[in-house]
Amino acid sequence: MATPSTTPQATSHDELQRAAREHLLLHFTKQAAAYGTAPPAADAAPRDELLVLDRGEGPYVFDTTGKRHIDALSSLYCSQIGYSYGEEFSAAIGQQLATLPFNTNWNTAHPASIRLAEALAQRAPGDLDHVFFTNGGSEAVESMWKIALEYFRSVGQPDRRKAIARKDAYHGVTLGALSFTGVPGYKDGFGTPPIDVTHVANTNAFRDPDGDDEAAFCARLLQEVRDAIAAAGADEVAVLIAEPVQNAGGCIVPPTGYWKGLREICDEHGILLVADAVICGFGRMGNWLGIEHEDVVPDMVTTAKGITSAYVPGGAVFVSDRIAQGLFDPSLVLRHGITFGGHPVMAAAALKNIEIFERDGVLENVRALEPHLQAAMESLLDLPIVGDVRGKGFFWAVELVKDAENTRFDQAERDDLLRGFLPHAMREAGIVARADDRGDSVLQIAPPLISDAALLDEIVATLRTVLSAAGEHMGLAS
Ligand SMILES: Cc1ncc(COP(=O)(O)O)c(C=O)c1O
Repeated sequence: MATPSTTPQATSHDELQRAAREHLLLHFTKQAAAYGTAPPAADAAPRDELLVLDRGEGPYVFDTTGKRHIDALSSLYCSQIGYSYGEEFSAAIGQQLATLPFNTNWNTAHPASIRLAEALAQRAPGDLDHVFFTNGGSEAVESMWKIALEYFRSVGQPDRRKAIARKDAYHGVTLGALSFTGVPGYKDGFGTPPIDVTHVANTNAFRDPDGDDEAAFCARLLQEVRDAIAAAGADEVAVLIAEPVQNAGGCIVPPTGYWKGLREICDEHGILLVADAVICGFGRMGNWLGIEHEDVVPDMVTTAKGITSAYVPGGAVFVSDRIAQGLFDPSLVLRHGITFGGHPVMAAAALKNIEIFERDGVLENVRALEPHLQAAMESLLDLPIVGDVRGKGFFWAVELVKDAENTRFDQAERDDLLRGFLPHAMREAGIVARADDRGDSVLQIAPPLISDAALLDEIVATLRTVLSAAGEHMGLAS
């Protein structure tokens, strides 16, 4: 074996492919397929090399062959402002590193996290005035849960230890957060989840018998929530958690009145309402916490991803005054902490992110262009493979179907379409989007929030080309 060196060994495209295959374990990936170490099935689409991205510029990323791709997924819903603000972030981070590279928020604090908490509270809706920092979304979800339990301990309700979440929803996969996640395949083999969670229906109206009657659909969904609470024991439920627009299943928007209904049900039973805005927050819906458009103030909001536009990792739980008051009980210690939660570098970056959002009108851009993007996405409904178009803000999905009756693709067809054909076609077309079947078969986009109308049109035109070819590939008449 070669002597280890501190100088990077892998520089060329081929060397990076080799070194990745030999050393880098990929997240949520079939390693054998990604690294080409398993023989492809006889009928499989051509297998691409691992996509290695080494540069970004505006809304574009460039791979190690020099090919440009439109990042129509904002690097997994994170790169809200794209890739051209590095120097500004470097200056802010550099200044922080030169002043105080690190201190915790355990019993002490530092100006950057204090300023960030204040800036976030000023922008959060209602009385979400308190912030607990984390390094990402799963930590935010688990922190939310422990804050909820500590709150209930402080108000003399220690028996509230159950939760309600929704089917197919993704709230993270660390073992605590995995309890809330409602994607069945992610849980098998990892033991009984530590938190007792009942999963109720999500709000996907497509194919639902009541889907065309929004009021009836909403009433039925809320009744199911009530029934689930009654079955769990209303005095034992601590938290109801839901995404404002659910990602898994493909940008599932709620019917009008759903969130107000959730708020009422939670208030009636003393349950904490939590919006998981890890994806929806920080501009994706054209507002700060991804929930303001529902005109409902949750008791807590979990965030991550866009909080720094991913220039560095970060996350946060927003906590209402009422819940925080419980934590201020003189006898209570908040028995939860994360060494790097609210790291000064993260705080400096998140403050810079807020400054850029406000200076460059990022939220305004999303709000102004949402109708344009919606119309463009809905124009795809003329393609035979597109059964439904749904979404909000800069967060949209098309559901892919087999025929005019909206028949679902079977497992073998989904493997071919979503794991073979579409990733390859998108790679060729120079676009990053997400083909997914947690729930139904969807192709999803979440463009950088700095995208202009011309770029959004280019994204949708590229989807049209790719989806037309996909329809032909799957034998649908064009
Ligand atoms: C809604 C939601 N919650 C929680 C998480 C977990 O976040 P992380 O991957 O940062 O742990 C995710 C990740 O995508 C998410 O989409």
